[in-house]
Amino acid sequence: MTQRIQFNEVVTRDGFQIEPQFIATDAKVALVDALSDCGYAKIEVTSFVSPKAIPQTRDAEEVMGRIRRVPGVEYTVLVPNLRGAERALESRADELNLVMSVSETHNLANLRMPRAKSLEALSEVIRAVDGRTPINVSLSTSFGCPMEGEVAPAQVLDWAQRFADLGVRGLTICDTTGMADPAQVARLCEALRQKLDHLQLTLHFHNTRGMGLANVLAAVQAGITRFDGSLGGLGGCPYAPGASGNICSEDALHMLEAMGLETGVDLPRLLQVARALPDIVGHAVPGQVAKAGRSCDLHPVPAAVTELQQQLQRA
Ligand code: COA
Ligand code: ZN
Repeated sequence: MTQRIQFNEVVTRDGFQIEPQFIATDAKVALVDALSDCGYAKIEVTSFVSPKAIPQTRDAEEVMGRIRRVPGVEYTVLVPNLRGAERALESRADELNLVMSVSETHNLANLRMPRAKSLEALSEVIRAVDGRTPINVSLSTSFGCPMEGEVAPAQVLDWAQRFADLGVRGLTICDTTGMADPAQVARLCEALRQKLDHLQLTLHFHNTRGMGLANVLAAVQAGITRFDGSLGGLGGCPYAPGASGNICSEDALHMLEAMGLETGVDLPRLLQVARALPDIVGHAVPGQVAKAGRSCDLHPVPAAVTELQQQLQRA
């Protein structure tokens, strides 16, 4: 495998949206700026949603206005409706990440409207933007809904095709509450690539049941080269019962690099940023590599072992 992987960071949007304490705007801006120097393809900075629905991103304009834009990094934002799109364009977002769910119940819970109404609203956004800014559409609950259960792959393909027909640049296929398994991921990724390989296809996994990195591997093997992850493994949708963290970016990047895949991310630098995250959110985070170090970072040989080696040499 020699594909180049494009990795997107979502910590200040998906990662922070479920945090109960408001994270200071200064801290969000500083974190995005630190991540901008780590080699990500894209950073999802914030969401232009109702501040009543997601109080954490009520400072979206200020964050977008204050971050340092590094050439080569795309700064994207989550948008649920026309109002959000107007705010996003005003804030000079590089991409609009529109969102709706494949499951009707989750769409009602998260966006307070039926899917048909979301399609109407998002179509209106796509028409209004008229190609001036690239559009990505995130399809939540693509691998299962915590309230409805199974989501048929045909449904995901249908919704994906609808947005492809509307001319979007990319689609993000989201496992909102970590229900996907690797075999299911392989099947859906193959089907999506057969139909829609001309689009930028991104996979967005949550590690709710410990299958996150196995799912990344299954997707890579099915030819997917774009992934979302959250620093420290933070994240989750407050309107999806039982939701928990995204796949941890630094753990996923460490795995991909160990496998010989190129990601463009400076992992040692990213690990330094990750180690500061518990102080920003005020609690421990699930990520593992920031605690253990990379598998190639060796520990010093204990003195007793060196002594033993010398004795063996003399003998
Ligand atoms: N940005 C800011 N405010 C917005 C907004 C937007 N994009 N869209 C709506 N609002 C405001 C309205 O002005 C209104 O404010 P008011 O009560 O002060 O008059 C309020 O939100 C309700 O608006 P309404 O159009 O009736 O929306 P709703 O209550 O039916 O909610 C959404 C619909 C989509 C706006 C809301 O459910 C939402 O923002 N969901 C996002 C959830 C999310 O981000 N989940 C995690 C990511 S997957
Ligand atoms: Zn998510």
